[in-house]
Amino acid sequence: MTVTAWAPGRVNLIGDHTDYMGGLVLPMAVQLGTRITATIDPPGPGHGHLVLRSDRLDGIVELALPVTDPTSVEPRWGRYAAGVAAELGTTVGATLEVRSDLPIGGGLSSSASLAVAVALALGADGTPLHIARLCQRAEQAATGVPCGIMDQLAVAAGVDGHALLIDCATDDVTPIRIPESAAFWVVDSGQARELAGSEYATRRTQAEAAAAIVGPLPHALAADIEAIEDPVMRARARHVRTECDRVHAFAAALAGDDLVRAGQLMVDSHRSLRDDYEVSTPVLDALVDRLVGVDGVFGARLTGAVFGGCVVALADPAVALDGIRVRPTAGATVRRG
Ligand code: GLA
Repeated sequence: MTVTAWAPGRVNLIGDHTDYMGGLVLPMAVQLGTRITATIDPPGPGHGHLVLRSDRLDGIVELALPVTDPTSVEPRWGRYAAGVAAELGTTVGATLEVRSDLPIGGGLSSSASLAVAVALALGADGTPLHIARLCQRAEQAATGVPCGIMDQLAVAAGVDGHALLIDCATDDVTPIRIPESAAFWVVDSGQARELAGSEYATRRTQAEAAAAIVGPLPHALAADIEAIEDPVMRARARHVRTECDRVHAFAAALAGDDLVRAGQLMVDSHRSLRDDYEVSTPVLDALVDRLVGVDGVFGARLTGAVFGGCVVALADPAVALDGIRVRPTAGATVRRG
């Protein structure tokens, strides 16, 4: 049997480092993604093997089934597939040809796109949320990074022409229409992302420690946050609290076609991630400054886990930037037979 699965990448327009604290995010599935053509072995006695080849990533991944430990698989990109196969309890072998037009490690979540495409190719079914949760567990198990749900859910649940307002406390997804007057660009800083895993986990622990004092950060009182004694925990909490407000305001600005306001909120988000969450770099700061100085650019900010990678910019559609114009796209699909 042959199965064809496709999963988009995603760009996060606003709302970073809020998902794992039960906050708001506003990602958008994009037109670039991962396509997998899988040839599934006929079920036979004993357990099979999974074989994956990629047009972009080096090496052939060969996994004996069932997968029990995805953490030491080589080449490393195979860990995402191994994590998914372990979550699914896959025992029937298959050969997966992977094609991607996403920049690898470029901030468009090529890893969540790969994981969701593998899951669909290997027969995962259920709601987009169910598939996203499965892939989130797979990624956490495979990489050790305690990631949130945003990337996988954006990839699985994308809606054509829309970004997704996701409340990560309830998993509610509200599509927000992207106005014709808005163009989003992803611009590579040229700085490879570093330390993302360990620093990510540290930020999460700090935010959780703050929440243990003042309660869930998205709804904490500003006065309670400012009363937190530890300056680092106070700053982390302030970012999460104010970022959730910005996500709300940004969704309203898009709905009202107020791109000046939306752009300002992106710049405010960047500053908060730079100063209070300390996940930016001088290279990203300089790129944001340069982009917001371009005529017709409403705003720009870092996006994703960061410490390098890409910046997302909101511009007038007449403006061309030196990056990839990303367009809102429907989520992952699969065709069996
Ligand atoms: C990574 C994680 C997401 C989210 C972002 C930061 O992309 O996978 O869950 O936490 O970082 O917003």
